[in-house]
Amino acid sequence: PIKQFYYCFGCGASGDAISFLTNHDRLSFPEAIEELATLAGVDIPYEEGTQASKPSEDHTELYALQQSVSKFYQQALFEHPQAQQAREFLRNRGLNQAALAEFEIGYAPPEWQNLPADLNTDKLKQLGLLIEKDDGHQYHRFRNRIMFPIRDRRGRVVGFGGRVLDQSTPKYLNSPETPIFQKRNEIYGLHQTLQANDRLQQLLVVEGYMDVISLSRHGISYSVATLGTASSREQYELLFRYCKQLVLCFDGDQAGQTAAWRAIKILLQTLRSERQIRIMQLPAGDDPDSLIQERGHDGFSKSIDKALMLSDFFFDYLTKSHDLSTIEGRSALVRIAKPLISEIPDETYAQLMQVRLAELAKISISSNTSTPARSNRYQPRQQFDSRLSLVKTAFNLLLQNPDLIRVVNQQPTDWKMMNDPDIAVLLLLYESIDNNPDSSFLSLMKLLEDHDLFIRMKSLISEILLKENEIETELSDAISGLNKETKQQRINQLASQQTLNTIEKEELQQLLMNK
Ligand code: UTP
Ligand code: MN
Repeated sequence: PIKQFYYCFGCGASGDAISFLTNHDRLSFPEAIEELATLAGVDIPYEEGTQASKPSEDHTELYALQQSVSKFYQQALFEHPQAQQAREFLRNRGLNQAALAEFEIGYAPPEWQNLPADLNTDKLKQLGLLIEKDDGHQYHRFRNRIMFPIRDRRGRVVGFGGRVLDQSTPKYLNSPETPIFQKRNEIYGLHQTLQANDRLQQLLVVEGYMDVISLSRHGISYSVATLGTASSREQYELLFRYCKQLVLCFDGDQAGQTAAWRAIKILLQTLRSERQIRIMQLPAGDDPDSLIQERGHDGFSKSIDKALMLSDFFFDYLTKSHDLSTIEGRSALVRIAKPLISEIPDETYAQLMQVRLAELAKISISSNTSTPARSNRYQPRQQFDSRLSLVKTAFNLLLQNPDLIRVVNQQPTDWKMMNDPDIAVLLLLYESIDNNPDSSFLSLMKLLEDHDLFIRMKSLISEILLKENEIETELSDAISGLNKETKQQRINQLASQQTLNTIEKEELQQLLMNK
């Protein structure tokens, strides 16, 4: 963050915040700008008369059609002669006019063909709103259902969920995947939540449309729903862009618990030090909607506060399903938990999880350190030893601050002779900077990525968090420490020799005197 760039040790991709969004998240340049402005809370000035952004493929008309269909459903809820039952249903569910308006809830009339006849047939088909049988017979997808438009984070209607009014199935019918709707990328209620909150302290992740709407009606305006599908990594990455604290609040039934566990397996892979995930436990049979109706805003808020930390939920869930009084149960626990823990990108967090696992399984930590190298890690760090060696420290500080080569040059050069497997890497780095005075981290990476020592080099890379004003001293200290060690090595070497010639004797005397 200080240097304002990213670099991928796997594929060498690099760039700044904007190119991260355009490359990694595949946003267009204007979208990336809009995204970053939203995150930073900055308004973007647009030239008058220009369109905001044009995605690579132009789906403007699909969005417009989807929007007008949504408006039509909304109107039908109040105007269609058979909408009475739908209005009653919503009233019984406690939804007032404000909620209906905020979530733009509508009604799809019961006729097989219920959308206005002047809408573009081809585009309706593309949106999954019009279905054509092999015999050419056409009908509309949503009939006699309460309609929940799904908006993307930027507020465009991308799809619908439609609920039946009785016990028939499917209870909810959703839009199919279309050019503008990929379920794994969309979150219900995110747009409304972002509208309602300038700053999100936490974000509640629930399963259902009705949960989001009901929570909002009771004054909890920071919930979103995963669209009932198994939640995806993409959905969580999207949410983390807006809020670092997620609280999962899945239904208190078996399906909800299973969904929560599945979510956790995904979330473990997204853990970064600044992200926090908690899991709310609902009483069996309750969902967020029913619970807030029972307990009201304050009662529900208290339950949020009692949500378990991800780590606690993780081990609770696993200990409940294994008999830890037996070796069989404990080894099964390790077998399941270990690979999951190894996917956690946050090093410290992963280590602490391993300690906890070792405690539960009653195995010693040392027998636990043989975790296979993690493919998604670039740095096999030594477990439980966060102190970096002098070489590593010097290497990393110099790599991150190539201009500090002057600090190295102020010191004697004994370190270059040091007997240490990693000195060659430090020396390579030093010489690369020496030969290319205006080097930066990125230019060095590009320069060295084909070098034989590059893999070795990658394994040395560590994050060193220092205040700006400590870096120089730290580097200087590391180099002089290396020099001292080099001298000591030489002393040891000479002292262990059977015979010394005159020059060597003098050298040893000199060394010992300096010491
Ligand atoms: P639920 O069955 O928990 O529905 O499904 P709900 O939101 O509590 O709705 P009410 O209270 O019965 O009215 C949770 C979510 O799973 C998806 C929907 O997104 C729903 O909101 N779902 C459920 C479907 O997509 N299809 C279904 O048939 C059922
Ligand atoms: Mn419900």
